[in-house]
Amino acid sequence: MRPACVLVGVMGAGKTTVGELLAAELGTRFRDTDADVEATAGKPISEIFIDDGEAHFRTLEKAAVVTALASFDGVLALGGGAILAEETRAALAGHAVVYLSVGLADAVKRVGLGAGRPLLAINPRATLKHLMDQRRPLYEQVATFTVSTDGRTPEEIAAEVLTLLKP
Ligand code: S3P
Repeated sequence: MRPACVLVGVMGAGKTTVGELLAAELGTRFRDTDADVEATAGKPISEIFIDDGEAHFRTLEKAAVVTALASFDGVLALGGGAILAEETRAALAGHAVVYLSVGLADAVKRVGLGAGRPLLAINPRATLKHLMDQRRPLYEQVATFTVSTDGRTPEEIAAEVLTLLKP
């Protein structure tokens, strides 16, 4: 069993919104590794960062990704930083990975003041810029397809992804 597709991209790329639309179009389920991590920890991501630290979050995230890749056949969205782990990048090989790319202006608008996203608690714009610069090569490395989301509606983006996924 493997996901119909795996969505990657920075916070604000639209992974959840587009992923839910895609799942509905494909008649399958949507799953988000952030939600899996929260279920395992029994608390929201912001509390995991506060109580246990980012390194612990990343450990839970790695396990959530590996489990979902092996046991879920719907549309899977990974947390924006999941691709930081080499093990996770390796595990994505052979999967249909869609990188939802976004420029800084649109990403900042979509995340607002970063509510619920601990990494954006301080200076969301500068932090996002830094994370995007650091991670872009990693998203590109794991991507089967790259879809630009700038200035586009979730429906338009989902339609392009569906076209790309067609055999
Ligand atoms: C993170 C992205 C978040 C979440 C956590 C850390 C990151 O997921 O996993 O707050 O490092 O970019 P989304 O990309 O779904 O917001």
